[in-house]
Amino acid sequence: MKIELGAQNCLYPMPTTLVGATVEGKPNFITIAHVGIMDLGSVSLGMAKAHYTNAGIKENGTFSVNLPSADMVKETDYCGLASGKRVDKAQLFHIFYGNLKTAPMVAECPINMECKLIKVVDFPKHDVFIGEIVTTYAEDAVLTDGAVDYGKVRPLLFTMVDQSYWMLGKRFAKAWSIGKDLNGHKST
Ligand SMILES: Cc1cc2nc3c(=O)[nH]c(=O)nc-3n(C[C@H](O)[C@H](O)[C@H](O)COP(=O)(O)O)c2cc1C
Repeated sequence: MKIELGAQNCLYPMPTTLVGATVEGKPNFITIAHVGIMDLGSVSLGMAKAHYTNAGIKENGTFSVNLPSADMVKETDYCGLASGKRVDKAQLFHIFYGNLKTAPMVAECPINMECKLIKVVDFPKHDVFIGEIVTTYAEDAVLTDGAVDYGKVRPLLFTMVDQSYWMLGKRFAKAWSIGKDLNGHKST
């Protein structure tokens, strides 16, 4: 039996990210879970217009997307509770900059993507920022044979309905592979 839930967005869990930007000349970080992949080289961020960070992304045309690991849950949650209008969230982290110079990144996060703003989609209450990934940085400890190993990254996952954080489960099948077991299935 199906129960109607109204128009509820159930596209969770999502990775929780820390988005970095320079706002009024200073680094600021905001927790963003409404992230997307536009094509393999670009990302989207759905950010309410009321946030302090938005103006900095528009002004500099740059931002960073940092992936905190599960053990950074307190700092990540704090960046989603407090506004840069009132507190200096950058003091929580060691910060570094890459080629774009105005996209602050969190050294403690195992993965950092430095992005150049390519488009802002204007929704009534949200700015959807679309950015091209210019450079990605990874902590060597989360790589296996030179590739990002998400078991080592331990990304922080978020669900809206219960406002909770989750950890990644176990890898259990190979993509573009396990489905081959159905090759030759009966088609109608
Ligand atoms: C787990 C979590 C996820 C969040 N995801 C989003 C999001 O995707 N979009 C958004 O606009 N705000 C999101 N927020 C809220 C902002 O992070 C929060 O309002 C923040 O304090 C704004 O910071 P700023 O004013 O310094 O820009 C999230 C908060 C939390 C705790």
